[in-house]
This record gives sequence, C-alpha cells and structure tokens, in this order.
Amino acid sequence: MPSIVPNNRLVFNKVPTGYPVPGETTRIDTNEKIDLDAPLNGGVLIKVVVVAIDPYLRGRMRDASIKSYAPPFLLGEPITNFGVGLVIRSENPNFKQGDRVYGTFEFQKYVIKHDTSNLIVLKNEEKLPWTAYLGVCGMPGQTAYIGWKLYAQAKKGETVFVTTAAGPVGSNVVQIAKSEGLKVIASAGSDEKVEFIKSLGADVVFNYKKKDTLEALKELGHGIDIYWDHVGGKMLEDALSAMNDFGRIVVCGAIAGYNNDKPYAISNLHYVLTKRLTMHGFIVLDLLKDHIQEFYSEYPKRITSGQVKHHEQIYKGLEGAEQALLDTLKGDNQGKPVAVLSEEDL
Ligand SMILES: NC(=O)c1ccc[n+]([C@@H]2O[C@H](COP(=O)([O-])OP(=O)(O)OC[C@H]3O[C@@H](n4cnc5c(N)ncnc54)[C@H](OP(=O)(O)O)[C@@H]3O)[C@@H](O)[C@H]2O)c1
Repeated sequence: MPSIVPNNRLVFNKVPTGYPVPGETTRIDTNEKIDLDAPLNGGVLIKVVVVAIDPYLRGRMRDASIKSYAPPFLLGEPITNFGVGLVIRSENPNFKQGDRVYGTFEFQKYVIKHDTSNLIVLKNEEKLPWTAYLGVCGMPGQTAYIGWKLYAQAKKGETVFVTTAAGPVGSNVVQIAKSEGLKVIASAGSDEKVEFIKSLGADVVFNYKKKDTLEALKELGHGIDIYWDHVGGKMLEDALSAMNDFGRIVVCGAIAGYNNDKPYAISNLHYVLTKRLTMHGFIVLDLLKDHIQEFYSEYPKRITSGQVKHHEQIYKGLEGAEQALLDTLKGDNQGKPVAVLSEEDL
C-alpha cells in the first residue's frame, strides 16, 4: 500500500529588496506530496528534524545570474541550509534506519538523498542536543574555531574587538579569545545581549545602539590588536581608526550591507598601509577539509565540560523558519536560531 503524505516545503518565491518578507520572499507550498514506501533507487529517505537559520541565507536570495561564493536559491524551489535529519529508510549501506545525519537539507518535511557526499552520520558520543550541531558545534562554531586559529595570530595579553558578539560565531570567538588570555572588547545591539556576553567573560561590552563604537573604543585609552569583523560598514571604519600598528582584521561577515543594494564606502582604508595591518577574509566552507576532524575531536568536549557556553532560540516549523531569518537579519534573535520541523524527533 503506498503511503502518500503531504511534504510541505518553504519555497523561494521572490528576490527581495531590503529585508526578506515572510510569505512574499518565501512561501509555504502545501501541494507537495511524497510516497514514503516508494523505491529509493539506492537513495536515503530522511525526515528533516531541524534546520539552521544563518545570515548568509540572505545572500542566496538574489538574482540567479549574480555570482557569489554560495549558490543562489532558485525561484519555485525549496530553500536549503545545514540541518539534522533522521534516516527513515535507506538503500545505501552507509546509512541505516534511525541514524541522525548532518548535512544540507531542503526546508521540507522529507527528503530523498542520492548524493550523500555532504551527509555525516552523527555519533554524538557527548550526548549534545541535536540542535548544537547547527550552532556551537556546527558551522558557526567551526567558523570561530578555525578562523581564529588560522587568521587571528593571537598572542596572550593582546586586545581583540568582536562585533555581534552575542551571536553564534561571536560568542564562540569571545570564549576562545578569553581562553587564550586576551582582553576582549565586544559589542551587541541590546542590553540583554550585552549581559549575555558579559556572562561569557568578556572584559568590556557595550551596546553599539546606545554608544558610538569609536567613542567606546577611544574611552579604553589604547588600541586593538585584532578586530574580528561581522558587520563591515561604519563599524569596520571605526575599528580601522582604533587599530594598533601591525594589527590583524579578520573579515568574517559584513551584515550591515546584507540588506542594502549600495555598499558602504570605507573612508579610512589607508590605515591598512600606514598601520601595516593585515586584513583576511575567509569562508569557512573552504577550510573544512583540512580542519573539521580537529574541530570535532576538540570542540564538543569543551561544551560538555562547560568550558564553552552557548544559547539557542528555537522557532517552530516552516513559518518559524521565515520569521527566524527576518529576526536574525534585524537583530531580534537571541542566540543561535534554529527551526524545528519535527519536534517529536528532537
Ligand atoms: N566567513 C564565514 O565563513 C562565515 C560563517 C558564518 C557566519 N559568517 C558571518 O558572521 C557573522 C555572524 O554570524 P552569526 O551566524 O554568528 O550570526 P549573528 O551574529 O547572530 O548575526 C545576526 C546579528 O547581526 C547583528 N546585525 C544585524 N544587522 C546589523 C547591522 N546593520 N549592524 C550591526 N549588526 C547587525 C544583529 O546582532 P546585534 O543585535 O548585536 O546587532 C543580529 O542579531 C555574519 O555576518 C555572518 O554572515 C561568516
């Protein structure tokens, strides 16, 4: 007997100008169905349990003719991102029923994967919540851990400035820097986020919506050696002004520009020359091949031991996923946003 069930999905509907609009930029398609008993032809049938919501998804909501590091979403097709799924049935010997798998999934209830090259079976010996594999132990944690190791060139006693420091990447950078004996200055856009960052051990934390960033950096009386940039725009300009000679700028994100068509013109790039600065942009996906094993053997332990703290915000369903992306881009999220598509399997 075929077992045909609805397979609701979140489809890319319209290229946004400015912030994405739930129901317009994306829409929930309730017409799709799937036969859960159909032959898999060597594939794996997976129930999508939880998907990550990351700022870079906004960059994929572009006209498909524009080239960038991550592929554009296609109109009428489901949006995709990192997620954790549950194997329901498998015709592939590398996967068995009940396995929890990490990989890239369509935002829909069930998927059938034939190309399994980016799927990892999660052993989860540390017994972390599955959502942790999308935040502190997922792409954001990997970004902080690997990017810091390769590009910060940190020395004990130096000063680092971290923006959007309450976010999934920033909160990990703060904790890594503190564990290596640096002084940490951090900023965030709400008093609640400021309190969270203080609880991670940062030395000086300010709300950049209440206090001008350059003023805040000047008040400290000395410069910064490392700027971990998540924002770009005016904050990068302010950090450039406050950098010490031979400082390092790690360009991890540029969220101030994600919803604007016109890039911000940085007025003081000459400091890169006169202060002999190094600026390094990176995309973590380029680095995983050489560093992911080390990350998985090192980082989960730090979480279970309590050395690394994290927090998450759980959104429900496909509607929740739409809202979560908007909240993330506007700064209304608290902690790593994830959208749960199958609560009973979490
Ligand atoms: N290079 C890579 O491989 C890589 C990998 C992952 C992430 N990233 C980037 O790293 C950054 C942090 O990522 P994440 O996942 O940890 O997310 P995140 O920090 O939670 O990013 C969202 C936060 O950005 C802040 N924000 C939004 N608009 C802003 C604006 N105009 N000016 C200043 N801050 C603004 C808000 O926090 P506040 O309330 O504090 O303003 C918001 O909560 C993002 O830019 C992301 O694209 C890069």
